[in-house]
Amino acid sequence: MHKTTSKPEIYSSLLPQIAALIEGDNPWIGVMANVVAALHETLGHFWIGLYLVCGDELHLGPFQGPVACYRIKHGRGVCGAAWEREETIVVDDVEEFPGHIACSSQSRSEIVVPIKSDGRVVGVIDIDSRKLSAFDDDDRRGLEQVAELLAPVIEGKA
Ligand code: SME
Repeated sequence: MHKTTSKPEIYSSLLPQIAALIEGDNPWIGVMANVVAALHETLGHFWIGLYLVCGDELHLGPFQGPVACYRIKHGRGVCGAAWEREETIVVDDVEEFPGHIACSSQSRSEIVVPIKSDGRVVGVIDIDSRKLSAFDDDDRRGLEQVAELLAPVIEGKA
């Protein structure tokens, strides 16, 4: 019988892989795209991407999945709310989140993790699932570590 790999095990093998992708002096758009590709390959959700803070908006960055909206205002949607609150937001059912921005009607649950550099939010990691309640504290912990790794890549770029 196969042992199911737990989420903490998945993230502990993913984090060194992401650290290796970020290491060295490589073109930053490519680095972000590779990190998103690694997240998508390992976690396999419906939509995984980055939004970068640009003035009072988030701008769409590298992603894997269906086309998405280009701009999100501060405080709007789950992404803008995570930026405003400066904390991770886990949404079990997007229909229950006031102001949720539906880039795709297939999205049922979502996690948005702020990427902070020197205490300032510079972007967010956004992941959408077709399943309800797909994300939990293991995802929050794992993705907050991914956000820490990504911060120096994004700082000062958008
Ligand atoms: N659902 C997000 C918008 C971005 S898409 O999910 C890719 C939100 O409410 O902020």
